[in-house]
Amino acid sequence: MPEPSAMTIEVASATPADVPAILSVLEASAAGNWVFRRRAADVGRAVDDFAVARDPDGRVIGCAALHWSTPSLAELLSVAVLPEMRRQQVGTRLLDHQHGRAREGGARQIWLMTRVPEYFASHGYRPAPRNVVPVRILAAKLASVFAQPPKRWIPALAGGETTMVRSVDS
Ligand SMILES: CC(C)(COP(=O)(O)OP(=O)(O)OC[C@H]1O[C@@H](n2cnc3c(N)ncnc32)[C@H](O)[C@@H]1OP(=O)(O)O)[C@@H](O)C(=O)NCCC(=O)NCCS
Repeated sequence: MPEPSAMTIEVASATPADVPAILSVLEASAAGNWVFRRRAADVGRAVDDFAVARDPDGRVIGCAALHWSTPSLAELLSVAVLPEMRRQQVGTRLLDHQHGRAREGGARQIWLMTRVPEYFASHGYRPAPRNVVPVRILAAKLASVFAQPPKRWIPALAGGETTMVRSVDS
């Protein structure tokens, strides 16, 4: 089957019907410890945060969430593309979509925590100290770390994740 080019990939806001597909995409990356596992109810509640990328058949092949931490600061999280669909600009399209949402929503900065800082550096993110994020937001993040399998706790807590920030205007 020919691989769809980036031009034939559609990126749009997710709907509740996309929740099972989002969970599948996240699961494919969570197995390698690249993204946090999320429960169906959690993704269902946060579905408005998500954008999905679809192939020409309408299959969800990637997702990314943008969540407001404060009125001027948004978090980018749950960025994942199905392994067989990577390196075809799907991630880039998802990031562009969410950066646009952040701009339209009035965010001044976007932050994230990642194990692939090189990827996000190529999209304008720079490493930043964790205190760029309000303490109450970090505390909530900590709770999400402990919702992961124990093998994920150490890398998340001991510096295996890089905190990065991007100006929305950059
Ligand atoms: C990171 C990820 C979302 C990128 O999606 P993608 O659609 O493959 O990325 P794009 O096609 O937009 O960009 C490709 C370019 O980004 C860079 N890149 C891609 N994956 C990378 C990685 N893991 N590390 C460093 N750079 C990477 C490369 O320069 C690549 O260009 P090349 O193919 O010419 O070498 C995807 O690899 C993925 O789902 N990884 C597992 C989950 C994950 O790590 N998510 C981020 C955690 S917050």
